[in-house]
Amino acid sequence: MTKYNFDEIVDRKGTNALKVDALQERYGDANLIPLWVADMDFKVAQEITDAIIERARHGVFGYTCPSQEYYNAIINWVDRHHSWTIKQEWISFVPGIVKGIAFVIDAFTTSEDKVIIQPPVYHPFRIIPTLHHRAIVNNCLKLEAGRYNMDLDGLKTIITSECKVLILCNPHNPGGRVWTREELIDIAEICYDNKVLVISDEIHADLTFEKQGHKHIPFASVSEKAAQNSITFMAPSKTFNIAGLVSSFAVIPNQELREKFFAYLEKSELSEGHIFALLGAQVAYEKGDEWLAQAKDYIWDNITFVDEYLKKNIPQIKAMLPDASFLVWLDCKDLNLPQAELQNLFIKDAKLALNTGTMFGVGGEGYMRMNVAIRRQVIEQALENLKNAVNKLLGI
Ligand SMILES: Cc1ncc(COP(=O)(O)O)c(C=O)c1O
Repeated sequence: MTKYNFDEIVDRKGTNALKVDALQERYGDANLIPLWVADMDFKVAQEITDAIIERARHGVFGYTCPSQEYYNAIINWVDRHHSWTIKQEWISFVPGIVKGIAFVIDAFTTSEDKVIIQPPVYHPFRIIPTLHHRAIVNNCLKLEAGRYNMDLDGLKTIITSECKVLILCNPHNPGGRVWTREELIDIAEICYDNKVLVISDEIHADLTFEKQGHKHIPFASVSEKAAQNSITFMAPSKTFNIAGLVSSFAVIPNQELREKFFAYLEKSELSEGHIFALLGAQVAYEKGDEWLAQAKDYIWDNITFVDEYLKKNIPQIKAMLPDASFLVWLDCKDLNLPQAELQNLFIKDAKLALNTGTMFGVGGEGYMRMNVAIRRQVIEQALENLKNAVNKLLGI
């Protein structure tokens, strides 16, 4: 069994990595420790790199179609990891999930319609519909005993006939929640009965911490109402750290929705994946199991390290332990700082680039989001910087 080395130093500077090379532009300081954009600093599974190099050596990069192996790899992966049996004809490549969301908004709604989101949530859920001139309706998550829950009663009261789409983050970013079957069944029921189409964004699904007792449940698998009234987006990009290959896909069991959405994609040739996207996704799903298992163990150890360090050294900041993925939602409310000053504390004093809580919308005030898919040593340094900055603030 290959033992992957997640402690290996990988210098991303100068590779046009958004996370590193955009620091100056986004944060005004190129030398911050980058713990923001949701990709990993780990090298991908060697099998993916090998397959891409071998294909590149062929030397001809003409128009490419998805192979039978590509579809089989997706179908087998979703079945093996998420116990959801999907059919080939339900699947279409999409050039990114955020773009996929934009396509659904464009294809299924008009500017008279409204889109429901559950903040604090991944900011493009708000930004993309807004840029398409669709009004946003917030069904805010409820913070209960340090965890987020969906406000299902609230959802029933805010839905009007103008609400045409609900964007579900399953699992949730930034809170890290994996939703229960009961919660998903309830969402399906409410949305189906009110003719609100559900977009289920499942990009973080494969990063669910099963060893810690969590299990991702694909939305469309929970009931017939869910299956017949949803468009699911999945991707190997977060799972295997191949976001730059852009290899997402949509899964749509309902024929009518599928025909409408696939026709939308086809009219602008949006469903045509490029050569390395298709190959990267296929090889990742075929050969990436062991790499993913080890990556998740490493990430979980980083999460518990952050949690324990904060409890011991910076009790004013509390980590929300995620059920899935590598994003830790830090509750900094006890520092009593307005958001701009909180951000300044992280950037100017601690020399850290995190995502500021308010970018995730209502409920994000007083929070910062930390990406821990990085070498342990960097996490240790980041936390020490943060401790010193907080101590200075508190005059300790
Ligand atoms: C919930 C969620 N959806 C989508 C994306 C981005 O997906 P894509 O790069 O395929 O547009 C992210 C990236 O952080 C995310 O967290």
